[in-house]
Amino acid sequence: AAAAAGCPVSPRASAFDPFGPEYQADPPAAVRWSRDEEPVFYSPRLGYWVVTRYDDVKAVFRDNTTFSPSIALEKITPVSAEATATLAKYGYAMDRTLVNEDEPEHMPRRRVLMHPFTPEQLVHHEPMVRRLTREYVDRFVDAGKADLVDEMLWEVPLTVALHFLGVPEEDMATLREYSIAHTVNTWGRPSPEEQVAVAENVGKFWQYAGTVLDKLRQDPSGHGWIPYSIRAQREHPDVITDSYLHSIMMAGIVAAHETTANAAANAIKLLLENRSVWEEICADPGLIPHAVEECLRHSGSVAAWRRLVTRDTTVGGVPIPRGAKLLIVNSSANRDERHFDHPDEVDLRRDNATDHLTFGYGSHQCLGKNLARMELQIFLDELTRRLPHLELVPDQEFTYVPNTSFRGPEHLWVQWDPAANPERADP
Ligand code: HEM
Repeated sequence: AAAAAGCPVSPRASAFDPFGPEYQADPPAAVRWSRDEEPVFYSPRLGYWVVTRYDDVKAVFRDNTTFSPSIALEKITPVSAEATATLAKYGYAMDRTLVNEDEPEHMPRRRVLMHPFTPEQLVHHEPMVRRLTREYVDRFVDAGKADLVDEMLWEVPLTVALHFLGVPEEDMATLREYSIAHTVNTWGRPSPEEQVAVAENVGKFWQYAGTVLDKLRQDPSGHGWIPYSIRAQREHPDVITDSYLHSIMMAGIVAAHETTANAAANAIKLLLENRSVWEEICADPGLIPHAVEECLRHSGSVAAWRRLVTRDTTVGGVPIPRGAKLLIVNSSANRDERHFDHPDEVDLRRDNATDHLTFGYGSHQCLGKNLARMELQIFLDELTRRLPHLELVPDQEFTYVPNTSFRGPEHLWVQWDPAANPERADP
């Protein structure tokens, strides 16, 4: 509609397809032309305006009144009637959480709920993350070959997420299936037949979340964000509603789990592809925090995010009407040479790597960012110490779950010579 209202659409803009092979393979490279020539453009295929330069993406994140986050979790592909009916069968009622809540409701909620995310609280989780990581590495350290996603990077962040939320650990295999279904449901382009199968899993995920929540309500004295939120509800019943608790119970697992699992796989892949950088951090583990930040900038796990325009405005000088939807490609912003020197290079000494927008920016900026950083640092610390001779299995093809936003390889095969493990030489 916005295009019909008089905005000429360039051939590249009209050809832009975020579900096509180019964007799926490398989002920032797929929109390089846009950063250079047309940094804000309307995509008729998607029905969204696409924003690709650093300053523009940041300006959109900064103003959450003009650019409402309410559509952040909306399904990007219109849902078939059959899939809607399937979801209804499970009483699916995912509503606002934090990430897609407008002001004035959002800030009071964020304030009431942020305590478990503070650095003082997070240190309590560190031994658990360290122990889990070691256990998983123990299982494959002598094998010589592993799919790091299947054998570590998926389950450790899932377990950490469940601990952080205070959720019982059972049903992990099922949850893994459910959370993939949720990604496809929200950010993907499933066919009509797939939609029904996906909706079945999303519906079950929703019901499961409700069951766990009921269990926790009976005794909310334990550790974790959900018991904390249940207790907070008693003091602030108008701020923390029942629907909200059910929604964060499900959305919280996805927010904490897949983002971090994907970020870890992206980081290790990137470092092994840049062998000299990997060797630098093996030699000096003090560089690991920088490496984590640089990996999040270069190959973050959230490639793009969304906002709804609430009044006629401009982005990067381009007029955008009220009601327009924006796809803000933060992965592209992170590779904008107007902000980062030699943005495609992995540089541990870059002084502004933390300016990246992988965690968003402003009043909705990721609450879990320090938990995610801690996990990534521990993964790199354990792997560089115990398997410095790790390398990617050559000629493997990396596949990605097709969607606009959540990004990480589905498998990451690595190999090494177990006889050369440092712990064998120095037991
Ligand atoms: C919000 C990314 C890990 C919990 C967000 C947003 C992004 C994001 C892009 C939206 C920001 C905005 O709108 O400005 C990531 C990435 C992660 C990660 C890339 C891992 C590398 C986590 C973890 C948790 C978490 C581990 C929980 C333990 C949240 C919450 C919000 C959020 C609660 C909503 C904050 C609000 O709207 O006030 N995250 N996230 N995230 N994230 Fe994360």
